[in-house]
Amino acid sequence: MKYFSFLTAVLLSLQIQSQNISPLYEGVPVFHGAKITGNFPNTEFLFTVPATGERPISFSAENLPKGLSIDASTGIVRGTVKEKGSYTVKILATNTKGRAGENLKIEIGDKLCLTPPMGWNSWNVFTNTLDEKLVMETADAMVSTGMRDLGYQYINMDDYWHAVSRDDDGKPVANAEKFPHGIKWLSDYVHSKGLKLGIYSDAGDKTCGKCFGGFQHEEIDAKVYAEWGVDLLKYDFCFAPLKKSEAIARYTTMGKALKNSGRSIVYSICNWGVFAPWKWGEQVGGNYWRTTPDIMDTWKRTPFWTGSFSSILKRETNLDKYAGPGHWNDPDMMIVGNYGKGKATGGGGQYKGLSDLEYQTHMSLWCMLNAPLLSSCDLRSMNEPTKNILLNPEILAINQDEKGEQAKLIQTKNGVQVYMKHLADSSLAVALFNTNKSDTKFDFKAEGEFKGTWNARDVWQHKDGGVLKDKLTFKLKTHETLVLRLAPYYFSF
Ligand code: GAL
Repeated sequence: MKYFSFLTAVLLSLQIQSQNISPLYEGVPVFHGAKITGNFPNTEFLFTVPATGERPISFSAENLPKGLSIDASTGIVRGTVKEKGSYTVKILATNTKGRAGENLKIEIGDKLCLTPPMGWNSWNVFTNTLDEKLVMETADAMVSTGMRDLGYQYINMDDYWHAVSRDDDGKPVANAEKFPHGIKWLSDYVHSKGLKLGIYSDAGDKTCGKCFGGFQHEEIDAKVYAEWGVDLLKYDFCFAPLKKSEAIARYTTMGKALKNSGRSIVYSICNWGVFAPWKWGEQVGGNYWRTTPDIMDTWKRTPFWTGSFSSILKRETNLDKYAGPGHWNDPDMMIVGNYGKGKATGGGGQYKGLSDLEYQTHMSLWCMLNAPLLSSCDLRSMNEPTKNILLNPEILAINQDEKGEQAKLIQTKNGVQVYMKHLADSSLAVALFNTNKSDTKFDFKAEGEFKGTWNARDVWQHKDGGVLKDKLTFKLKTHETLVLRLAPYYFSF
């Protein structure tokens, strides 16, 4: 506390008291999402400035590096920057209600994913029914629901985009019935919306769905993915020898191929947490790595080759020291809004899904733990509770915070777990998670890490949560998570 300047403290206190969430498309422009983004030099750059507020908004940018330009009506920044460098760009957004400005850092260097990637993945709900129409409709929904304007960006195609086999030159080929226009055409469509396209392959001969794998085709695959305009690769580990040295070798080969592909392609390692990929994932070029088996849409126990929400959370906790900008722990996709209906996560009808309050807990903890935020529900038909969870700007800001610190579980008392992370503006994010099967009273005391006086903002209620001086008492519903943003408090207004 003593390190904060007087002015910062006053500003933070003011800011935290004045923030109020209004409907997404009313009022002055408000910026969201990552305040920092990375790309390799001499490769295509694409970033959509996430902003809400009354439309139309007119965007402009000062100090854009040479080679980039911003589209005034959409805020989509595109181009290619030749040289490595750190650029601080001032983005301006103007509408009839007013004007807002913020700094965006563009790091042209050797790192991608400076904040956890946000997007969608086809697997949990659609499995083998993935096709071009679904990808396009999902991209449209990411725009029309406002997800893009809050920072969601990736549309990731999982298994089953493949033709029966490669072509005679060994190049990967997409299933022509499902993708009649081809993947390049599809990526052009996704990019035109300011979004990015992800693809899936496997470090074995076959993918988990028995389509052709990437083993011994790494260079040609990476090259073709780059030609197709692919922005992310999830690389699985089915039909590969279960040996640590083999895993490291195979992931390294693909990591190098992606780096040499001439495109900025995010690398997602998916070997289900086997052989502790958090210890070598960054070294093989990975931007994030699965820490667990596949998530199922249930709170309770599942067979050991899958994970429930609770078991996955347990395995993800305490891996905080391995995460940071450009390299994240991945506890798998989000199941928010699936209600047991996902083809992959519903367990053939045996899992009924979580309650909305439990999905909110799931989102709270994924955001606190800096997980990649890959929604996997049907974005075309989200109900209101699902939207309220996935489109809450305040919880998203905790995930996308530039400091990139994964929360630590610092205390458990009477079944309430306390997670904490430091944020870039010197405030703290705290989650109080009631693991009990009954409602629980919790005294949140200004002790230890929380010594001092703090202004608490309730991130889910979007309102002042009180001043933490001695203690604040909360009644938490069963499985509820309260998330507070604590700013140092100097004045009462
Ligand atoms: C699993 C992976 C899932 C999904 C699936 C596709 O190994 O963990 O997330 O990608 O393969 O077959």
